[in-house]
Amino acid sequence: MNRAAEQSQTNPLREGLSTRAVPQPCTIVIFGATGDLTHRKLLPALYNLATDGELPPAVTVIGFARRPKADDDFRNEMHEAVKQFSRQTVRDEIWKNFAQSIFYHQSDFADESGFKTLAERLTRIDQERGTRGNRLFYFAVGPEQFEPILKHLKAAGLNKAPEGSWARVIVEKPFGTDLGSARELNRLISNSFSEEQTYRIDHFLGKETAQNILVLRFANAIFEPLWNTRYIDHLQITAAETLGVESRGGYYETAGALRDMVQNHLLQLLCLVAMDAPSDLSADSIRDEKVKVVKCLRRMTAAEVPTNVVRGQYREGAINGKPVLAYRAEEKVDPKSTTDTFVALKLNIDNWRWWDVPIYMRVGKRLPKSATEISVHFKKAPMVLFNKEANDANVLVIRIQPDEGISLRMQAKIPGTSFRIEPVKMDFHYGTTFGKASPEAYERLLLDAMSGDATLFARRDEVEQAWAVIDIIEKAWSANKEASDLSFYPAGSWGPEAADELLARDGRFWRRL
Ligand code: BG6
Repeated sequence: MNRAAEQSQTNPLREGLSTRAVPQPCTIVIFGATGDLTHRKLLPALYNLATDGELPPAVTVIGFARRPKADDDFRNEMHEAVKQFSRQTVRDEIWKNFAQSIFYHQSDFADESGFKTLAERLTRIDQERGTRGNRLFYFAVGPEQFEPILKHLKAAGLNKAPEGSWARVIVEKPFGTDLGSARELNRLISNSFSEEQTYRIDHFLGKETAQNILVLRFANAIFEPLWNTRYIDHLQITAAETLGVESRGGYYETAGALRDMVQNHLLQLLCLVAMDAPSDLSADSIRDEKVKVVKCLRRMTAAEVPTNVVRGQYREGAINGKPVLAYRAEEKVDPKSTTDTFVALKLNIDNWRWWDVPIYMRVGKRLPKSATEISVHFKKAPMVLFNKEANDANVLVIRIQPDEGISLRMQAKIPGTSFRIEPVKMDFHYGTTFGKASPEAYERLLLDAMSGDATLFARRDEVEQAWAVIDIIEKAWSANKEASDLSFYPAGSWGPEAADELLARDGRFWRRL
């Protein structure tokens, strides 16, 4: 097969998004099958794929977890979860059929014999259900569980697929807590699975508009000539959530907003916006360009951290008129916690394209609105005829969620006899333009892993480079024992004032969402 033909078969980002590799029949083994992720995301995603006819019929799911449970009990539990979390209404006839492909395997992760019996079961499933020896191992567990699972998979020979088949592993975040631990995890995984077999999930990459960034930028000729320091004043990326930490206080105390959202999701979005055009659409060409962006991120010194990074934590307040607790009063949170639930930061990419174009990012829990967007703020037109006052006359907004779409702000004359100018918007909404809801990120990513397409998964070097940037900030924060730079904000506000000052200092302001 020639190269172009090969790419068009293997890559989803080909023109029109219509050609994609075909997902192959396989058994998906979910470690951590009784956990939150399986209930909220994985099973609902698989059910929706089945409903939409996207899932090869032979696909089989094995939930692997410690608690004893019969297949039918597990199926009933998953039925409830899917009813609660599916984006489409659950239809009985589809569920009944789909449920027949779900099984439960009880074992401790530390028990080698549980993996031997898993291997036997997988072989039986191959014969009975036609899964052709293909295995997708999904690690929906904390990283502390990785070692025994990886070791036992290898000992049972499950890290290698039979001739003509494949074995792959999907790894969830958090992928480490710093560069050292991420490297260690990578080392552990590479003892059992090669990089080609490893799919590090970052669900933001599976979101429809995140994928559309490359299409917007590289399938249109009008943006690329403007996409640089000559025409762009600055970039903003906001990921705001009204939710607090919910039941995840234990995890969140060890993470904070910087590790939970910036190291992965926000830096990934930045890479898509800031990368150069890849030489082709293969997974590695795209990831080669993305990793260059992270490598070019200016490394701050510890002394620069307080100037460029604002950390905040929510106090009690109100969301949609309802009173909510302070972070420190949440379940499993230290009452004196200094964990960041909000971060705003200013970054710079030291390359020719982005020289002198600041990038402002902010992410926070318990903000007034749930919305994720990227905005590209163009420079002012020369202040010769118009625009004496207008700031931000031209802004391209990429709405990742909700109401996925893209809008472009420009100046227009107000109809009438006088010459008055006002900003107007050209707006594209996915929902109304294409008339159908976008799939959930996990649906897309699961299919990609079944097709062997790693484009939307993070590569080892991307993850490690991202940690190198975040580590500088985390280290500066932990050296400040009193956390004297931690600012508090009332739940339901747009974060601490210091976040506004970060931009005001540069004569700029956050876009109102
Ligand atoms: C997860 C974070 O990765 O992303 C959560 O751990 C966050 O804290 C979530 O709430 C946001 O994802 P989404 O898809 O709901 O915007």
